[in-house]
Amino acid sequence: MSGFYLALEGIEGSGKSTVGRILAQRLGELGIDSITVREPGGTDLGEELRRMVLHSGHMAPWAEAALFAASRAQLATEVIAPALADGRWVISDRSYYSSLAYQGGGRGLGVESVRRLNETVLDGVLPDLVVVLDVEPEIGFARETERDRIGQDGVAFQRVVAESYRMLAAHDDRVMLLDAGVTPEALTDAVLAIALERRHV
Ligand code: TYD
Repeated sequence: MSGFYLALEGIEGSGKSTVGRILAQRLGELGIDSITVREPGGTDLGEELRRMVLHSGHMAPWAEAALFAASRAQLATEVIAPALADGRWVISDRSYYSSLAYQGGGRGLGVESVRRLNETVLDGVLPDLVVVLDVEPEIGFARETERDRIGQDGVAFQRVVAESYRMLAAHDDRVMLLDAGVTPEALTDAVLAIALERRHV
C-alpha cells in the first residue's frame, strides 16, 4: 500500500511546525506510521542549499526558485518517495506550494512557470493534500522574531504571499485553506479529519 503525502503551508507564524508536531503524535496514536520533513532541507544537500538560500546576500529571483527546487528534488528522491513506497505518511513542513506562493506570487515569477519548474524536477512525487494555515500577515509576522533573508522582506511581502495562497486554494483541488485562528490542537484535529477523508477517497 502506498502512503499519504500531506504538506502544511502558510506564511511566517501560521503555526505549521506546531501542527506538524501534534499531527505526528496523533498519527502515532492511531497506529499510522509517519515521518516528518521540512523544506528547504531534510537531506545533506538540502541543508547546504537551505543555508545558501536563506542566509546569503541578494539573489536573483530565479536563482532562489531554482535552489528551493533543487533541495526539494533531492528530498523527494532520497526521502519522500521511499517512505511513500513503504506505506508511510509523510508530513511536510512546506512543499512546492511554498514556491508557488513565495516565488511565483511574492517574487512575481508567475505561479504557472514556477509550477512547471517544480513539477518537472519532482517527477510525480507531489503532495496528496496541501493544507494552508491561513493567518493575517500582521499577526503571523509579529509572532516570528527570527527573520531569514525572505522573512526580512517585511509584512507587505507576506501579504502578497498570503493572497497567493488564497488564490491557490480557490483554484486547485489539492489545496484546502483553514483559518489558523484557533488552538493548535483544534487546528490539528481539523487537518487530520480532512487528511483521513482524502486518504479514503
Ligand atoms: P523556515 O525556517 O521553514 O520558515 P518558517 O518557519 O516560516 O516555515 O524557512 C523557510 C523560508 O523560506 C520562509 O521564509 C519561506 C521561504 N520559502 C520560499 O520562499 N520558497 C520555498 O519554496 C520554500 C520551501 C520556503
